[in-house]
Amino acid sequence: MSGLFVELKTPHSGKYMQPTGLFINNEFVKGVDGKTFEVINPSTEKVITSVHEATEKDVDIAVSAARKAFDGPWRKETPENRGKLLVKLADLFEKNLDLLAAVESLDNGKAISMAKADIGMCVGCLRYYGGWADKITGKVIDTTPDTFNYIRKEPVGVCGQIIPWNFPLLMWAWKIGPAVACGNTVVLKMAEQTPLGGLVAAQLIKEAGFPPGVVNVISGFGKIAGAALTSHIDVDKVAFTGSTVVGRTVLRAAASSNLKKVTLELGGKSPNIVFEDADIDNAISWVNFGIFFNSGQCCCAGSRIYVQEGIYDKFVQRFKERALKNVVGDPFARDTFQGPLVSQVQFDRVMSYIKAGKDAGAKVEIGGKRKGEKGYFIEPTIFSNVSEEMSIMQEEIFGPVCSISKFKTKDEVIAVANKSNYGLAAAVHTKNLNTAIDVSNALRTGTVWVNTYNTLHHQMPFGGYKESGIGRELGEAALDNYLQTKSVTIRLGNALFV
Ligand code: NAI
Ligand code: MG
Repeated sequence: MSGLFVELKTPHSGKYMQPTGLFINNEFVKGVDGKTFEVINPSTEKVITSVHEATEKDVDIAVSAARKAFDGPWRKETPENRGKLLVKLADLFEKNLDLLAAVESLDNGKAISMAKADIGMCVGCLRYYGGWADKITGKVIDTTPDTFNYIRKEPVGVCGQIIPWNFPLLMWAWKIGPAVACGNTVVLKMAEQTPLGGLVAAQLIKEAGFPPGVVNVISGFGKIAGAALTSHIDVDKVAFTGSTVVGRTVLRAAASSNLKKVTLELGGKSPNIVFEDADIDNAISWVNFGIFFNSGQCCCAGSRIYVQEGIYDKFVQRFKERALKNVVGDPFARDTFQGPLVSQVQFDRVMSYIKAGKDAGAKVEIGGKRKGEKGYFIEPTIFSNVSEEMSIMQEEIFGPVCSISKFKTKDEVIAVANKSNYGLAAAVHTKNLNTAIDVSNALRTGTVWVNTYNTLHHQMPFGGYKESGIGRELGEAALDNYLQTKSVTIRLGNALFV
C-alpha cells in the first residue's frame, strides 16, 4: 500500500475515507522506513487494510513535533482557549458518533451498540476536561513576613501515551483529554491490533483547530514504537494502559532513561460479591454485564464471582440461563451483545485458560468452546467447582470466562476477594447498607460498585491498588498526572539579608 487514505465501508456507516498514515504535526505522513502492517477484522479474520508503521525514527520525529509545539504556540495558548479546543473536539466526536462507533466495531469487533456507548463516553470525557482547562489553580502560602510564596501548577511537557485495543477510542479520550487540558503535548500510540479509530479521530484534532504538533497519533508495535516512546530522553511523562507485564517494562524503561513520570493502568481480577439479601434479578444482570461486556476484554471485568451459600444453587442456575441469552455474533447486528475477541492471539490465550480450568478440575457450567468456524468468537463460559489456587482464579483471562464460588460469611469473602495481586475494581450486591459500606471499605481496590457493575463515569477517578497500576485516570485526580508543582519564593524588598 502506498497512499495515506483508503476507502473503506462498514455496515453501519457506509463508505468513508480511512486515514492510514502517522498523524504528526496535523498531517498524515508515511513512516521513514516505509513499513506498513495489516489490520485484521476479528469477525471475519480478513484483512481490512494496512496502515503505516512507526519505528524509532518516526517516534523521534513525532516527539520533536510535540516538543516544538510545547515550547512554541501551545505554551502561549490561554487556558480558556485550550478548553475551547477540547470542547470543540468533543462536539466533533458527537457529530461523528456513528462513524467513529462503526470504525471501532469493524476494527475491535465490539457490538455496535456498545461502541456507540463508548463514543458517548468519549464526548463526556473530552468536554469535561475542556471544562477543567481554565480551572487549574495554584496557591499562595504564607511562610514568613519577608517572603511572598506561591505554588504554580505547570504542564509536565511532552507526554507519551500508549493505549490498548479493548477500548481504543475511549482510551484515546481518557489520555488526550487531561493531558491537553493541563497544557501538555502528546504523542499517542494506538495498539497495533486496533489503529483505525484513533486515526479517524486524529482528523478531528486538526478540524477542531489544535495547533500542529499538540496531539500526534501513531500506529506501531509495542516493542518498537512503544519501547522508543518509553525510553525517549525528550519525553517527560508516559501514561500506559495494558498488561501488568508490559507495565513493569515501561517503569524500567523510564528508570533507565530519564526518569520520566509514569502512570500505569494495568490488569485486574475483580471480585463480584453477591450476598443472600441481594435483589437476585438485579445482581444477575450486573454480574452478567460485569463479565461478558466487551467479550470480557475489560481490565475491570468481574471475573471472580462469589455467591453466598443460601442462594448459590439458585443463582448459578439463573445466571446460566441469563448468560445463554446473550447474543454472540456479528458486531453490526442490532441485537448483538458480544462480538469476537480482538485477535487470534487473544483467542488462543483465552482458549488456553479454558483448557487450564478444565485440566485443573473446574466444572464448565456453560460454554467453553469456540462459536462458529470463522472469527474469534468464544461462547460465554462459566466455571464452577473452582479453588483459589487455580490459574483461572488468579490470572487475568481477558475473555468471556468467569469462575463462580460459594462463601459463608462476610469476613471470609473479604479475605478471599483481597487475596489477589490485583486491586482494580470490585462489586458488592446487597440490600443491607452496612454490609455494602463495610465490604466497600475493606476491599483493596481502586473502585467498588454497589448493586451495579462497570458503571464508570468521567467525573470519578479510576485506577488500581497493588499490581493494577499507579495513579488515577478520570476525574480531577487525573490532572495530577499531567501537572508539575513549582514553588516560587520571592524575597520582599524590605527584608534585609545578613
Ligand atoms: P500489551 O500490554 O502488550 O499491549 C498494550 C499496549 O502496550 C499496546 O499499545 C502495545 O503495543 C504496547 N506495548 C507492548 N509492549 C510494549 C513495550 N515493551 N513497551 C511499550 N509499549 C508496549 O497487551 P496485549 O499483549 O495486547 O494483551 C495481553 C494481556 O494484557 C491481555 O490478555 C490482558 O490480560 C492484558 N491487557 C490489559 C488491558 C487493560 O485495559 N488493563 C488492555 C490490554 C491488555
Ligand atoms: Mg483489529
